Amino acid sequence: MGARLDSLAAIEAALWRELAAAPRDRTHPWRTPVLATTDGEFGDARTVVLRGIDAEARTLLLYTDARSPKATQIAAHPLGTLVLWSPALSWQLRLRVRLELQADGLAASSHWAKLKLAPGAQDYLSALPPGSALDSAIGARGERAHFALVEAAVQSVDWLELHAEGHRRARFDAAGARWLQP
Ligand SMILES: Cc1cc2nc3c(=O)[nH]c(=O)nc-3n(C[C@H](O)[C@H](O)[C@H](O)COP(=O)(O)O)c2cc1C
Repeated sequence: MGARLDSLAAIEAALWRELAAAPRDRTHPWRTPVLATTDGEFGDARTVVLRGIDAEARTLLLYTDARSPKATQIAAHPLGTLVLWSPALSWQLRLRVRLELQADGLAASSHWAKLKLAPGAQDYLSALPPGSALDSAIGARGERAHFALVEAAVQSVDWLELHAEGHRRARFDAAGARWLQP
């Protein structure tokens, strides 16, 4: 990106445009955010792939195994954070999100229908749940899929720009847009 954007409205529009481009661009660093959740005691975090985005509705889409620890955490504690960093933009986003796991239903089955013949389908076909102890390096394939969608509804965006002439930070949420001390 060339000149620095100077208005909050322009920054907000640009960050949603970038987010919308990320799922379709395998080289985009925002395609692999870190998703932070909690089990009520410990914070937990892991890399995920951003599979889709609805910029108007302010929702992001992820895939996971419905038996995974993160799925259990989301069911009990649906508020989480997605962290994204782009070295090219020098922008970090921290998205506070309300997470919803969808293992059944039309949306989950239509995504699974598209995915099930692709190599990535095996991620949802293990016999044992993610995190189970194994006797060898590779676990067995199971009989059925445990695919789930995770819908992340963005409640607020914390935007940070690193820059030699001064870092800038802003928050975008239901209360509007404002600058913050970085
Ligand atoms: C680049 C990368 C992308 C990943 N994408 C996903 C993903 O889209 N969904 C997912 O459930 N796990 C994904 N993982 C694996 C998770 O980081 C994590 O190891 C696994 O889901 C178990 O997490 P949990 O124990 O917190 O449930 C990815 C890992 C890496 C390194």
